[in-house]
Amino acid sequence: MAYHGAELQVEDVRLSQLAAEHGTPLFVYSKASMLAALAAYQRGFAGRHAQICYAMKANSSLGVLQVFAAAGCGFDIVSGGELERVLAAGGDAAKIIFSGVGKTRGEMRLALQAGIGCFNVESEAELDVLSQVAESLALRAPVSIRVNPNVDPKTHPYISTGLKDNKFGVAHEDTLRIYQYAASLRGLRVVGIDCHIGSQITDVTPYLDAMDRVLDLVTSIEASGIPLAHIDFGGGLGINYNNDTPPAADVLWAQLLRKLDERGFGQKKLMIEPGRSLIGNAGVCVTEVIYVKPGEHKNFCIIDAAMNDLPRPAMYQAFHAIVPLRTGHSDTPEARYDVVGPICESGDWIGRDRMLAVKAGDQLAVLSAGAYCMSMSSNYNTRGRAVELLVDGAKVHVIRERESAADQMRLERLVAL
Ligand code: LLP
Repeated sequence: MAYHGAELQVEDVRLSQLAAEHGTPLFVYSKASMLAALAAYQRGFAGRHAQICYAMKANSSLGVLQVFAAAGCGFDIVSGGELERVLAAGGDAAKIIFSGVGKTRGEMRLALQAGIGCFNVESEAELDVLSQVAESLALRAPVSIRVNPNVDPKTHPYISTGLKDNKFGVAHEDTLRIYQYAASLRGLRVVGIDCHIGSQITDVTPYLDAMDRVLDLVTSIEASGIPLAHIDFGGGLGINYNNDTPPAADVLWAQLLRKLDERGFGQKKLMIEPGRSLIGNAGVCVTEVIYVKPGEHKNFCIIDAAMNDLPRPAMYQAFHAIVPLRTGHSDTPEARYDVVGPICESGDWIGRDRMLAVKAGDQLAVLSAGAYCMSMSSNYNTRGRAVELLVDGAKVHVIRERESAADQMRLERLVAL
């Protein structure tokens, strides 16, 4: 994604051309950028027994899943719906891991019948239910228990998951006992251990600390006679939104693998569950300025994308860079704007205090919009979800059509009044 002359391009295609053909708001993903992000992990794990499971909650569009499935990825899922998506996109069931604190019996049944690779179990109650469901199908569910290592990932509190007060995982001090319990249940087969400490992590230290805590547990669990075939270190690696400087995936893993080797676990199978770092910077949201509204204290730049398309600013005060599709030719003076959507909520802002030279009809790109945008989008204000395109060199694939009002009303019924 770069300017070629005055024009912002994704691979070989001008975004202005895509906006003219498909309308706005519009999500555009670069296949090359997705594969480059994946390649950084693959380089990091070269020569190791490792499985990368894309955490598809970051972006679960079928076309995106297809790219990762074809590149050999497994998937980290958190619902029966996500399972159906992976299978529809041609993903390999054996490479699926199922995370989440609230798996239902129905979801467990679907996943067992599909033959997924591992359930990442988050409580004793879930162990009981999973064992019962597996026994009822005359199967044994492969399980790993999610450990809460109680380390602070130093990220936004809503996306921090590895602290004591979070709902995720089992407490470090209870882990050994819970493993022994899992090993005693007839419907289960203990295969691994996992942790995930949060998202948008830009520092290596929390990962190193979590790894130490998990490896301590691996030692005690195995000493108690329960072998663990794999260790899953979750996802969470951050991306650059606003002068963020996360380590590259291969740099992070060089450090983590060194620790793993030092502690004598270098031969273990590794699993990871990255989401954002595989797709976040591979996507942009293209939007058009509807009105410019000067004010006494603030100027507003009202765009046709909104919090239903890009919920991260409203939810986490997140920053996304906003840049023009064409630079340099504007005779409009630069001014400071709050960039907002048309939704009837003051929380519907996409960027605050941005210097932009814009007038109605200009097009803008909201950057780093590949992860947790479309997958968290909604129909609030009866706004249809945006079009999604996958660019591959000069080729453009429509991977999702624009949602109409009729699409949104399809499952509703008028009543006989
Ligand atoms: N594994 C588990 C168990 C997770 O809960 C998550 C994310 C991941 C892997 C992937 O994490 P990632 O590599 O993408 O950081 N909506 C928020 C992010 C929520 C993350 C939830 N869990 C946002 O827009 O920032």
